[in-house]
Amino acid sequence: MAENVRVMLSEEDVTKRIRELGAEISKDYEGEELVVVGILKGAAFFSTELAKRITVPVYMDFMATGSYGSGTVSTGDVKIKKELDLDVTGKNVLVAEDIIDSGNTLSFLLKYFEDKGVKSIRLATMLDKPDRREVDVHVDYTGFTIPDEFVVGYGLDYDQKYRNLPYIGVMEFDD
Ligand code: IMP
Ligand code: MG
Repeated sequence: MAENVRVMLSEEDVTKRIRELGAEISKDYEGEELVVVGILKGAAFFSTELAKRITVPVYMDFMATGSYGSGTVSTGDVKIKKELDLDVTGKNVLVAEDIIDSGNTLSFLLKYFEDKGVKSIRLATMLDKPDRREVDVHVDYTGFTIPDEFVVGYGLDYDQKYRNLPYIGVMEFDD
């Protein structure tokens, strides 16, 4: 079965949108400081590029969660594979995710940060696939809302491949 990636959002589209989100976030947190928590590995690029565009003081940290096997369908069972390094108690936390699909990962993370006694918690996602939502989660900053298609690139993988593509593309299969 041959795999092909069709461009959905170009490198320029993504870069421009991340700058806009950075400006919006900088305004919203004026006078405050912020811990940006990137969720590995998918948000590796988005979280760092976003942090570069935020002008208030930023601390960076990363967590890894898992709910997917090697397929394209979420199992709904979220677990922590890498813990936070910083103490976020009393801090403003901004979770940076690659994509919101079922919403299971974010709803799990929301509870996780609330239990840590953070000052505030907000969610930023590069992509949102609202058609696939199983759990209702409030997203504060969305890069792009996309249809229900399996996408790769800019951190997103298909079986660990294509994460390094500088754009976002749709996986296409033909034989
Ligand atoms: P959720 O818990 O179902 O919202 O899934 C979120 C995670 O599933 C994301 O952080 C991605 O790692 C993965 N995921 C969901 N949709 C896609 C996709 O279209 N391409 C690649 N990974 C995806
Ligand atoms: Mg993934």
